[in-house]
Amino acid sequence: MEQTVALGGLTLKNPVLTASGTFGYGTEASAFGDVRFLGGIVVKGLSLEARPGNPGGRIAETPCGMLNSIGLENIGAGRFVREFLPRLPWQETPVVANIYAGDYDEFAELAAYLADQEGIAGLEVNISCPNVRAGGARFGQDPDMAAKACAAVREKAGDKPVILKLSPNVTDVTEIARAVEDAGADAVSLINTLSGMAVDIRTRRPVLGSVIGGLSGPAIKPVALQAVYRVCREVNIPVVGLGGITSAEDALEFILVGARAVQVGSASFADPQLPFSLVSRLEELCEELGIESWEEFRGRIETE
Ligand SMILES: Cc1cc2nc3c(=O)[nH]c(=O)nc-3n(C[C@H](O)[C@H](O)[C@H](O)COP(=O)(O)O)c2cc1C
Repeated sequence: MEQTVALGGLTLKNPVLTASGTFGYGTEASAFGDVRFLGGIVVKGLSLEARPGNPGGRIAETPCGMLNSIGLENIGAGRFVREFLPRLPWQETPVVANIYAGDYDEFAELAAYLADQEGIAGLEVNISCPNVRAGGARFGQDPDMAAKACAAVREKAGDKPVILKLSPNVTDVTEIARAVEDAGADAVSLINTLSGMAVDIRTRRPVLGSVIGGLSGPAIKPVALQAVYRVCREVNIPVVGLGGITSAEDALEFILVGARAVQVGSASFADPQLPFSLVSRLEELCEELGIESWEEFRGRIETE
């Protein structure tokens, strides 16, 4: 079956992307597979200036998942463009820059700079990070703020697609999705991590240095699926589904409820080859299930 999908102006050779923050800057993965076979690479969240992130501990294992409070540590957009982007096969695999900013002007400046780079195929705007004090999830929890952040990026992104990354930590995710669609988003991706916490009864301290972090991994898949299902019924722009994907079966579940593409996140920590093996397994699974085209399968969940 032809695996190609169109995503808000991008053509992906298959629907498998890597999730931001779980695949470094894309170059680190070459030891585990050939990134040219992936549908796309979403790199670690970039800000205008380098950020040190949160104090440790920043990772905690949970039943069926993990908590992180990295706090968007990154080397800054300029260094990424100079040192890492030239080493990525961006001519063959779309490289999407995930971006984070503390205010609208900073979003605009960052978008203008990155959209101007030939090797950047699109921007994924993180308005859903639960691990930073300024900005972060606040942008994604208020429809007006989400729309303003989206518009600020859209205005400066030229012909590059803008994907808004949505938070599950809201009352109604469809409201935020509609707001960013109206503000010009070319696609949405969801979900980012769920707010979570771990404590140690012996030390009487929180496990994470920043006390509260974000939960990811298989534990959040049902939450992600329902969010993707609901958003797909509310918006006309493509939806990228993620949250707890560990197999081709999981990926197909997201596509069945309407996702155009999927991202592999924390599962890469347990199995760094997963994004690569998932591409070929997905092809086999389509064959096994007699799926002949994405159009015939996508969103065709029968609920009646
Ligand atoms: C260690 C870590 C770092 C992350 N960093 C980012 C980031 O920089 N930007 C972002 O939008 N999402 C970030 N995320 C969220 C993931 O991209 C993804 O939305 C989330 O983990 C849910 O997917 P998963 O269950 O497959 O991991 C991070 C997640 C983890 C575990």
